[in-house]
Amino acid sequence: MAIMRLGRVQIRVPNWEKSIFYYKNVLGLIETARDENHVYLKAWDEYDHHSVILQKADTAGLDHLAFKCEFAQDLDLYEQKLSDYGIAVQRVPRGTRIAEGEAIRFQLPTEHWVELYHEIEVVGNGMPLVNPDPWPDHLVGIAPPRLDHLLVTGDDIEGVSRLFMDVFDFKMSEQLVDHSGEGKLATWLFKTNTAHDIAFVKGPNGRLHHIAFWLDEWVELRKAADIMAKNDVTIDIGPTRHGITRGTTIYFFDPSGNRNEVFCGGYITYPDSPTITWTEDTIGKAIFFFERELNDRFMNVNS
Ligand SMILES: [Fe+2]
Repeated sequence: MAIMRLGRVQIRVPNWEKSIFYYKNVLGLIETARDENHVYLKAWDEYDHHSVILQKADTAGLDHLAFKCEFAQDLDLYEQKLSDYGIAVQRVPRGTRIAEGEAIRFQLPTEHWVELYHEIEVVGNGMPLVNPDPWPDHLVGIAPPRLDHLLVTGDDIEGVSRLFMDVFDFKMSEQLVDHSGEGKLATWLFKTNTAHDIAFVKGPNGRLHHIAFWLDEWVELRKAADIMAKNDVTIDIGPTRHGITRGTTIYFFDPSGNRNEVFCGGYITYPDSPTITWTEDTIGKAIFFFERELNDRFMNVNS
C-alpha cells in the first residue's frame, strides 16, 4: 500500500472573488471546475483534475489536506491500520467532490483533517504524451508546475510525526529540537523523494502555516517576486534560502490571509536518507539561511 503524494489541499478563502482572481491570474493555477462554494484548480504540470480547492468561508485556513494513494484497496488497508492505531476513520462517498471517487477521512493529533483517496479524473497537463514540448502555451502569472508540500502547526509534534512514520511509512528528513535536545519544535517528513511532503511546527492546533508550490529554477523565484510586486501581493520574506531542506523560497499571502510559498531546489531523499538535526540556538539560520533570524510575522501569523 502506498501514499504517492500530497494530492490536494482545500483552502478556506473569505475574500472570495479576489482570492479566485489571485489563484488563477497571479499564482497562475488553472480552473477545472466550480460549484457555488468551491473552485477547483490545478497546477499546469499536474495530470489530475485538481490539487487545490478554494472554499467560500468566513475565516481563512485549511479545511483539509489529502494524499493520493496508488491503489484503490489502499483505502481499506489504511483504514484498518488507522483503526488499529486508535484513530477513527470516516468514509467520504464518491461524488462528494467533483471528479473524485471515494475517500477516507480522519483527524490528526494536531486537529487537522486528512483524507486519502485514489480515484480522480485525469485531465492531463495540456500536452500530448507523445513528443511533448517542455511546457504548454498560455500559462499566466507565476505558473508553478505543481503543488509541493505544506506546513501545519500543532502541539504534539512528536506524536503526529510518529503517526506519519508508523502508519504511513513517511521518513523524517530533518528535525528542529529544543534546548534540551529531547523536545521536537518542528519536523520535516517525506514519502516521495523530495526533502519534505509535509512538515509540522510547534504552534496552535489545526492551523495552516503555508502551502507551497514548486518552481524549477532559482531565476523563476525572481520573476515570481516581480509578479507579486506588480500585483501588490504581500510578501512575508524572500527570495531567500532555507538551511533546512536547502530550498530557495519566497513566502507571501493570498488575499484571504493564507500564506503561500514558492519553493525551488533542495536535495532529494531516499528511504535510507539520514535525519538531519538542527538545534534551537541555530533556528534563524535553519529557517532563513541568509538573514539568520526569523521575523515575527513568520513566527506568529498562520491561518
Ligand atoms: Fe515550505
